[in-house]
Amino acid sequence: MHLLTGLVICTFVVQRSSCYLDLEDWDNNFDEKLDFKCPFRNQFISTVVSVHHNGAEDRRFKLNCRNIISGGRGDQDASCEDSGYVNDWDGVVNFQCPGDGYINGMQSVHDNWTEDRRWSFYCCSMPGYSPFHCKQTGWTNDFDRIQNYRVPDGFIMTGVYSEHDNGPEDRRFKYRICRAGVK
Ligand SMILES: *[C@@H]1O[C@H](CO)[C@@H](O)[C@H](O)[C@H]1NC(C)=O
Repeated sequence: MHLLTGLVICTFVVQRSSCYLDLEDWDNNFDEKLDFKCPFRNQFISTVVSVHHNGAEDRRFKLNCRNIISGGRGDQDASCEDSGYVNDWDGVVNFQCPGDGYINGMQSVHDNWTEDRRWSFYCCSMPGYSPFHCKQTGWTNDFDRIQNYRVPDGFIMTGVYSEHDNGPEDRRFKYRICRAGVK
């Protein structure tokens, strides 16, 4: 709640200049590693908040999770795998979890020379449970701007698309989201 209020004020007040948010619970520092997994394996990443810093030429992220189904099967039934890096420095990220997987974690490392991040994703799947009616979102942020994306109710996140631009030295992101349910 605190976080969203901060963002709204920030977006509203400081539209055209750089914006600093003084949050204590970011999942990474500028120029440092991001290594986030949802607390439980039957959860997907449902919110991505991030801000860009022009000095570090990097983004820091705050990720949150929701359960794939309420009252569904438990954490212990999910099986998960790490994608390994899916992009080169300055390269496109065009990733979709294999099979019936959903995105349960995101990792990335920053490089000062390319001022970019290489990404890997942690995908989990639940037996008998599969995504359908998938679509890609539009861009969820502009270069150098705040990102504040929430997967709509009734959808899960199953993929990420991202491009880097060497002018602003930043990335923007789209997500693949699907409805999901028992097969
Ligand atoms: C990367 O650049 C930042 C300044 O933006 C600096 O503080 C940091 O030490 C650099 N990291 C490495 C590994 O060179």
